[in-house]
Amino acid sequence: MALHTVVRGVGHFVPEQVVTNDDLARLMDTSDEWIRERTGIQERRFVQNVTPASELGVHAAKLAIEQAGVSPTAVDYVIAATLSPDYYFPGIGTLLQHKLGLQHVPALDVRAQCSGLVYGLAVADSLIRAGAAKTLLLVCAEVQSIVLDFSTSGRDTAVLFGDGAGALVLAAEEGQSLPGPGNGVRGVIDSLLGSDGSGAELLCVEAPGSGTPGFLSQEVVNSAKWRPRMDGRQVFKHAVTRMGDTAEAILQRNGVGAEDIALLIPHQANLRINEAVRERLGLRPEQVFNNIERYGNTTAATIPICMSEAVEQGRLKQGDLVLTLAFGAGFTWGANLLRW
Ligand code: COA
Repeated sequence: MALHTVVRGVGHFVPEQVVTNDDLARLMDTSDEWIRERTGIQERRFVQNVTPASELGVHAAKLAIEQAGVSPTAVDYVIAATLSPDYYFPGIGTLLQHKLGLQHVPALDVRAQCSGLVYGLAVADSLIRAGAAKTLLLVCAEVQSIVLDFSTSGRDTAVLFGDGAGALVLAAEEGQSLPGPGNGVRGVIDSLLGSDGSGAELLCVEAPGSGTPGFLSQEVVNSAKWRPRMDGRQVFKHAVTRMGDTAEAILQRNGVGAEDIALLIPHQANLRINEAVRERLGLRPEQVFNNIERYGNTTAATIPICMSEAVEQGRLKQGDLVLTLAFGAGFTWGANLLRW
């Protein structure tokens, strides 16, 4: 029997501090109405003081490990996904290994921004099916509030993002047949990833970086180059098209119809993007899980936070067919089809 990648445990953690749209409207020229109508966001969570991404990741990982019912010493691989690492280098994979007291196992950082979960899960699935990992911890954690510009000149990005983390414990299992489409196995059935670097400058933090003279010069500090820059309209259009195309392609190549999907868990960048994708796929509203209204866009962490809440709310049960779907800076995009 072939090996499959099964989600054994899932956990999430968000900081306590709730920041409403009205709170932001006191800092910049924006309004609750504008933010809700354009994005669906009502509030988000921000860390207080200096709390690095690895710290949020540790909390989420502990919950996932507990739910999985495995010992931390059983974890034999770590994959971390973040665009907001504690340090410029190293990534947070090794920090998680240390803070969680794991064995000296491989720790890999995936840099796929909002597609961090779908890329991370695809890589994890390849490692597990190849026999390179048996119990893999996938952690997606972001602290973005620290880099946002809360004056009116930063309002096009500052209102969108939030802090949070989600984690999965993925385990190798021998294929277990269940009736229904998608090969009838439990676990990851298929992943479909893509990229287009011609869009890199439409959504990026340009500096510091090796492409910037002086790396961290006074000019860089004085400019806004170290803050996220986004052409919102362009990103929106690409996201709608790529997410729709990717979802259709992965469903088609696995012989899965829209009615077979128990839950679509899309990245949470904009409720209008997710509505457009839902309509294109012909899914009913209850087939899609969204929580952007409470957390905003937590980048790599959106999908695992949704998964964790969907389990808590009884909307995700063993045997359910799940489709994840993301688009992010890079550009990167992708989907995973899995049976929970
Ligand atoms: N509050 C009030 N007004 C704002 C604002 C804010 N927070 N941010 C921008 N505006 C203004 C703009 O300045 C613009 O004013 P103008 O018409 O006078 O120039 C106006 O609102 C409309 O801007 P526009 O860019 O057309 O809005 P939009 O409907 O495209 O929505 C986004 C903006 C950012 C919400 C939307 O483009 C989006 O969600 N893009 C994709 C985001 C995304 O997916 N990012 C992450 C990818 S993983």
